[in-house]
Amino acid sequence: MYISRLATSFAGACLFLAQIPSLTKGYDLVRDYSGITFFDEWDFYGSWDNLTLGDVVWLSESDAFSQGLAYVNSAGNAILKVDNTHNVQDLQKRSSVRITTKDSYAVGSLWIIDLRHIPFGCSVWPAFWTKGPVWPDDGEIDIMEAINLMPNNQMALHTTSGCMHTTPPNQMGQTLENDCSTPSGCTVGELQPNSFGSGFAAMGGGVWATQFDVQGIFIWFWSRPNIPPSILGSTSISPIDISDFGPPSASYLATSCDITEFFTPQNLVLDITLCGIWAGLPETWLPSCGGQGPTNICYTDNVVGPGSNYNDAFFEVSYVRAYTTGGIVPVPTATPVAAADNSHRTFTSVVTTTPSPDGILHPSPLFFPGNGASHGHSMIGCWWVTSILVVISLRLWS
Ligand SMILES: *[C@@H]1O[C@H](CO)[C@@H](O)[C@H](O)[C@H]1NC(C)=O
Repeated sequence: MYISRLATSFAGACLFLAQIPSLTKGYDLVRDYSGITFFDEWDFYGSWDNLTLGDVVWLSESDAFSQGLAYVNSAGNAILKVDNTHNVQDLQKRSSVRITTKDSYAVGSLWIIDLRHIPFGCSVWPAFWTKGPVWPDDGEIDIMEAINLMPNNQMALHTTSGCMHTTPPNQMGQTLENDCSTPSGCTVGELQPNSFGSGFAAMGGGVWATQFDVQGIFIWFWSRPNIPPSILGSTSISPIDISDFGPPSASYLATSCDITEFFTPQNLVLDITLCGIWAGLPETWLPSCGGQGPTNICYTDNVVGPGSNYNDAFFEVSYVRAYTTGGIVPVPTATPVAAADNSHRTFTSVVTTTPSPDGILHPSPLFFPGNGASHGHSMIGCWWVTSILVVISLRLWS
């Protein structure tokens, strides 16, 4: 009887706990890209930039390594860079690098990138972003992207029509465009200092975290001095609890953009292009970089020539980490686009939940954009203990 009463009250306590919001938000690590193995799980593009029409050739893996545009430095950080040693003749393109993860990550994922240096300078257009197999049908998340001498990072989503950004009160960045199907995407400008350019590097770099969740897509940026303890204390093998993240720089709520409708599993991309259909447009390039060369054209004034103007055009990456919710090692499945290649896998999230009814996110510390995975953990524990107590009480009863 005592045990059965214990089982009943334990189940009651569990039901009570289920009513209050979880104070933690746990994610399990599924992939760490760092150190000497950093490049092992990425594909190199191996073609000229036929996507954003930049004046670069994104080298194959073997060419990128042999030409020294992709390597791991003595500090153990990955370097991806624009060629800054070859004289490029008129009508030729300059060599650069674009890499895409072999794995893709479903809704329920969290990605963290720690960067020491981001490429910058006139004509330079770097990005850390995500994509699905078909653009824009499978969605795109631009986490770090900026051009030329812009002072700040700019974030965006790209989707088919029907996904809108309505700025929630806890978003720290400035919404610049609401419709995610426009050519620019639904952009949000970073307002914190040192998110790009020489300022970023001067502070020792910084970290971006992106939560890809049924309740929305949330992007955080911290300059190195502001990185939260959860990230400073995480390792290449540890889980992470993101409840100390605070309000995000960009907050795209599912209430105005159904994440599972507009986004399929995403691959992560790091690339650097030059000029092209953003950095090289006269209206963007001329105001910050015009008047410094003979022609006032991005390509001829920047790309052609010895390349010494590209000494700052490199990424230095401490790590990229991918996490998922669920508390169980995810089962890899082949992505549709790469079904023939077993090295390309999709990490799916184990826990699937629906967004909270009001869709409202509360400010820190009651800020829970996630789908309650850690809550799921504790409930699983509750059900196990309750079941065991019920079984014991039934045994004692008989
Ligand atoms: C870009 O080039 C690659 C490699 O040649 C090719 O597979 C792809 O279809 C091209 N994409 C476009 C948009 O032309």
